[in-house]
Amino acid sequence: NNYVIIMAGGVGTRFWPFSRISNPKQFHDVLGTGRTLLQQTADRFEGICPNENIFVVTSEDYIDLVQEQLPFLSTEQILAEPIRRNTAPCVAYACYKIAKQNPDANIVVAPADHIILKEKAFQTKILTALEASAKGDVLVTLGISPSRPDTGYGYIQYKQEEGEVKKVESFREKPNLELAKQFLASGEYVWNAGIFIWTAKSIITAFAKHSPRLHEIFEDGTQYYFTEGEKHFVEKAYQICESISIDYAIMEKSDNVHVVLGEIGWSDLGTWKSLYEVSGKDELGNVIDGNTMLYDVKDSIIKTPQGKLVVIKGLENFIVAEYDNVLMICPKDQEQKVKDFVADAGEKD
Ligand code: GDD
Ligand code: MG
Repeated sequence: NNYVIIMAGGVGTRFWPFSRISNPKQFHDVLGTGRTLLQQTADRFEGICPNENIFVVTSEDYIDLVQEQLPFLSTEQILAEPIRRNTAPCVAYACYKIAKQNPDANIVVAPADHIILKEKAFQTKILTALEASAKGDVLVTLGISPSRPDTGYGYIQYKQEEGEVKKVESFREKPNLELAKQFLASGEYVWNAGIFIWTAKSIITAFAKHSPRLHEIFEDGTQYYFTEGEKHFVEKAYQICESISIDYAIMEKSDNVHVVLGEIGWSDLGTWKSLYEVSGKDELGNVIDGNTMLYDVKDSIIKTPQGKLVVIKGLENFIVAEYDNVLMICPKDQEQKVKDFVADAGEKD
């Protein structure tokens, strides 16, 4: 009964120009392993979920990319979204569709753009979580020990109790910096890894309770899933559903959330800085992916096309990134500016 839903519809613009709206980061081989982030996400579930139970939800613009990168998927397993409505509609669509095929489905929802270095540990945690979700009406998430007061994550306060699956006291999505600092100092919180485990029944119950509008919309789709009428239904459904993340729509409001803590080598590849942290560096602290001649270059990221020789002399703490028709050169500690560059370049998301 195990299923996996991969959310692959984000645009990742904080990673511009490497991540472009026309070709977001999840479709790139970010770490140079020969597999893209999307492929690595699917690979991770080998032995946990059969290939025919993997569903990918993405923008209709990326269907071909998904098909190309995961050729084992049938057209039914790629769910196309006509517009971006954040993760709550994405999860609802996929879960209600899967529920039609298998009402007893036990589902892992996974983002397509994360790095998990400890594959074995990850699989063990997921199996623990699946066991817990199969047993009761609970929403399970994976928790990561926080290392800084990052405001881009969800914070989970859990009960200090025995056992691998801990009851969650509160879930706070993207707190402000002050709160994040308090959470970190208290030692009672972990980050939400953004990976969720629940049965179709439990998540549908949760939607009905906390997000009745989305429940109504996607429940109504049950008559159309796996039929000719699905595409037309989805066109209309997405027009009327609000844009909201699953964290705000369901997780913050639920009182049956549980967390499995995991040391899994997790990293959300959200920004250039996070790429820098997880990548291998040369002796001068540079992360290099490209054809380069570097002189006195330190602590920088150079990510440029193989077909271009890049020669740099005297540079410290910079990002030099070229992708397609954009070259960006920006101090590494000012990467929050990247979102302005994207807007100014007219690449609205
Ligand atoms: N199909 C689809 N449609 N996928 C989407 C959409 C959408 O409209 N929007 C985002 N996604 C995908 C992204 O590609 C990503 O893989 C995943 O859903 C999560 O979305 P993000 O936008 O990256 O969320 P976040 O990083 O701000 O926050 C979430 O992840 C954090 C950990 O990385 C939350 O769950 C936080 O609580 C969590 O800490
Ligand atoms: Mg993210």
